[in-house]
Amino acid sequence: MNRMDGRFRILGIETSCDDTAAAVVDADMCVHANIVGSQESVHKVHGGVVPELASRRHSENILPVIDAALSEAGVTLADIGLVAVTRGPGLVGSLLVGFMAAKGLARGRELPLVGVNHVAAHLWAAALDSGSATLPSPSVCLIVSGGHTDLLHYSEGTARHLGGTRDDAAGEAFDKVARILGLGFPGGPIIDRMASGYTGGRVDLPRPMLSSGDLDFSFSGLKTAVALSAREVTDQRSAAQLAASFQEAAVDVLVHKTMLAAEQTGANRVIAAGGVAANSHLRQRLEAETRSRGYTLHIPPIHYCTDNAAMVAAAGYRRYREHGSDRWDIDVDPALGVRGGGEIHL
Ligand code: KG4
Ligand code: ZN
Repeated sequence: MNRMDGRFRILGIETSCDDTAAAVVDADMCVHANIVGSQESVHKVHGGVVPELASRRHSENILPVIDAALSEAGVTLADIGLVAVTRGPGLVGSLLVGFMAAKGLARGRELPLVGVNHVAAHLWAAALDSGSATLPSPSVCLIVSGGHTDLLHYSEGTARHLGGTRDDAAGEAFDKVARILGLGFPGGPIIDRMASGYTGGRVDLPRPMLSSGDLDFSFSGLKTAVALSAREVTDQRSAAQLAASFQEAAVDVLVHKTMLAAEQTGANRVIAAGGVAANSHLRQRLEAETRSRGYTLHIPPIHYCTDNAAMVAAAGYRRYREHGSDRWDIDVDPALGVRGGGEIHL
């Protein structure tokens, strides 16, 4: 909708947890700006995200982050054709800041507005920079983040939930294990780095639900097993050994169930997304296992796996094309997800 070049541009806004993010993406899924204002330093000292501090920081950052995205893309609001914003799931106070900013901008500029499901948006990261606003289909989708661990089957615009975690999400398990080992927050990247630098034997840890036959996961027993083994940790090397052993066990289950889902559904394309899909060991294992079976793997680059607004813009564009603009009385929905027996429109 640019006055100069006729391109349709989407402004994406994301504030569901502790990152204040804004992006400009065009209809060909070309990312013109992707700004993520991290609050890591605010929450680090508390060992986890403090909701009240997160929403306060979002309020301070949201307009500067949107301005930075527009400026990096070299556009103004006059060049935007659609505003897409995360409406859930997430922390209510955090969601509201991005949502109200998006609503205000859209209303003030008379632009269409769409509310986006954050979990589904993680999958749309796979479309970014691909040249086409579509997802590989039919495919099996593994969404692994701090709050969600789900397997979906996607075909031609609709998805079906195949399985998910019965307790902790995969990212939550990484963060809790890092806390047990006194490594800091967020735990995923720290464990990833520690495990990459470790060579040697492994601690024997359980692979919960590996042979359950269904497509569900459970990570709380693994976390407890790590807590018990942590009593034997005496130095940096034994901590790295336990971190590597945990990562291997978690990745074993994630990869095994994803391959099982592909076998059961006959889909030969696999999409992996969400913060934990940034994990180097998970990426290597998925690459090896899909290659040996002749499947195609679609895994976004790391900066599109962790929370960002470009994926929200992509998901919002798809939703807008299918369903048009949302009504002005749309609200945040902190409990939104991708579970349930019915069809999910992605
Ligand atoms: O998708 P995301 O950025 O936010 C949510 O929607 O939750 O995911 C955050 C989660 C955190 O639990 C973080 O520890 C984990 O993703 N994570 C990783 C890695 N990078 C981020 N986990 C394992 N290895 C990583 N390299
Ligand atoms: Zn996320």
